[in-house]
Amino acid sequence: MNKVSIRGFDIYKGYLDEQAQRDLIAGLRDVLKAAPLFSPTTRFGNKMSVRMTSAGKYGWYSDARGYRYERTHPKGMEWPPIPDQILDIWRDVTGLDRQPDCCLINYYGESARMGMHQDRDEADFTYPVLSVSLGDDGLFRIGNEEKGGKTESIWLESGDVVVMGGPARLTYHGVDRIRFGSSRVLPKGGRINLTLRVVD
Ligand code: SIN
Ligand code: MN
Repeated sequence: MNKVSIRGFDIYKGYLDEQAQRDLIAGLRDVLKAAPLFSPTTRFGNKMSVRMTSAGKYGWYSDARGYRYERTHPKGMEWPPIPDQILDIWRDVTGLDRQPDCCLINYYGESARMGMHQDRDEADFTYPVLSVSLGDDGLFRIGNEEKGGKTESIWLESGDVVVMGGPARLTYHGVDRIRFGSSRVLPKGGRINLTLRVVD
């Protein structure tokens, strides 16, 4: 493992070895069965290219009413629990006793991307957001606390963990594109990104 910091984001390259990645993906299968991926729309009515679902007490949701956390999946059921392997990563990397309330699961197909944004739908920004990348490489762009300005990019690979916290908690970030087919750990290709968030 190799830790780099870019604009206050701590990036743990190769945090999970290939077996740990495969175990994590196996654990996500039950979550995806219980809470299938869906395509949210932005508040402007555009369908997002990333498909999503969540585990935990809350799931992240977006529609014409805006961005928010919801207690249930759009089909009405509660979100499944966050798998223990994911909570172990949170505890190990953040050192926090407080567990995350939400594990947002983003799936990037071949042409999916995520525009620059801040994660600011949570109540307490003293808690970090932790991200885990699985599958194909994703080009992660890191900006500033204000919209715009110069940015820096880094390819996130399967097994990488990023902590967005402290003074960088509200730094803009996004994913420009993925390198479809660059990893073999997801049988059908694509990229999964997990983000763990304390919501309340
Ligand atoms: C996000 O900001 O919600 C996702 C980041 C990523 O896909 O790496
Ligand atoms: Mn984000």
